[in-house]
Amino acid sequence: MKKMGIEVTFVDNDITPEELDKAFRPNTKCVFGETITNPTVSIFDIEKFAAAAHRHGVPLIMDNTFATPINCNPFKFGCDIVTHSTTKYIDGHSVGVGGCIVDSGNFDWSANAEKFPGLTTPDESYHGLIYTEKFGKAAYITKATSQLMRDFGSIQSPQNAFYLNVSLESLAVRMARHCSSAKKIAAWLKTQEKVAWVNYADLEDDPHHALQQKYCPKGTCGVIAFAVKGGRQTAIRFMDSLKLAFIDTHVADAKTGLLHPASHTHRQMTDEQLLEAGVAPDLIRYSVGLEDPDDLIADLAQALEQI
Ligand SMILES: Cc1ncc(COP(=O)(O)O)c(C=O)c1O
Repeated sequence: MKKMGIEVTFVDNDITPEELDKAFRPNTKCVFGETITNPTVSIFDIEKFAAAAHRHGVPLIMDNTFATPINCNPFKFGCDIVTHSTTKYIDGHSVGVGGCIVDSGNFDWSANAEKFPGLTTPDESYHGLIYTEKFGKAAYITKATSQLMRDFGSIQSPQNAFYLNVSLESLAVRMARHCSSAKKIAAWLKTQEKVAWVNYADLEDDPHHALQQKYCPKGTCGVIAFAVKGGRQTAIRFMDSLKLAFIDTHVADAKTGLLHPASHTHRQMTDEQLLEAGVAPDLIRYSVGLEDPDDLIADLAQALEQI
C-alpha cells in the first residue's frame, strides 16, 4: 500500500478511546479492522472504533471474512463498509479466488467533502459527474464498481461467481458446523499438558469472550490460534506429525488446514518483529474444516504424542 501512496497507522485492539483519538492524522481517510483477526482470532471492538472514526469524520471499514455475514453484521454496530475475502468461508471449498465490498450507504461523504474529493468533486472520466450528488447514499459503491473496477480490472469471472453463488446456499449450515467443531477442539486443546495456550473467543475463559458475546453471539469461526510448548522447532515437528490437516497458507475452508506463521508466511521476521506485529512466534493457526471433530481430536492427540 505504501507504493500506492497509502500510509497506515497501526493501533492495538485494546487501545483506550483517548489514545485512539491521538492516533488519527490530519490525512486519515478511514479506520480499518478485522471482525476476527487473522491469525490471532481476537475480536474487534466495533463500537469503539466506529465511534472514533465518526468523531474524526471518516468511515469504519471492516474485513468480515472470518465471521462471515452469518455470525456478524458489523453494520448493526456502526461499521460503514464491509469487505470479505470470498476465497474463504463464503466459497468454502477453495474453488475460486474472490472478494466483495458491501456498502451500508450510511456514511455521509458530503459532510466531510474536503477529505473525499474523489467522491465529492467532478469525475472527468465520467463527464464530470459528482458521485455524491448523482448517487447519494450509493456514491462510494458506485464509484468502486464503475470507476475503480474499470481501472484496476478486479472483476470476478462468471464461472467463479457461479461457484460462489452455489456455496452461499450452504454457508449458514457450514458455519454452524465449523463453529461447533472448533469450540469442541479448542476446549479439548486447553486440557492438554503440551499445549501452551489457546485463543478461541467462544470459550468462557477467553479474554475476548465478552466481545464475542456482544458481536458474534452465535459463534466466531472455525479458526483456533494455539501454541505447543517448546518453540519454533517443536511447532514444526508437531505440524509435520498431523495426518488429517493440510499445512497450508489458505484458511477458513471445508478441509482442515494449519499454518505456523513464524516458519511460513512470516519466516523472514525475527521473534521481536513478530511480537510487534501481534503474532506470537509459537502461534499455530488451526482452521477447523467440516470433518468429524472427534477424528480431528484423535489426529491432534497423536501429533502431540510425537513432541
Ligand atoms: C481475513 C482475510 N482477509 C483478506 C484476505 C485476502 O484474501 P484473498 O486471498 O482472497 O485476496 C485474507 C487471506 O488470507 C484473509 O485471511
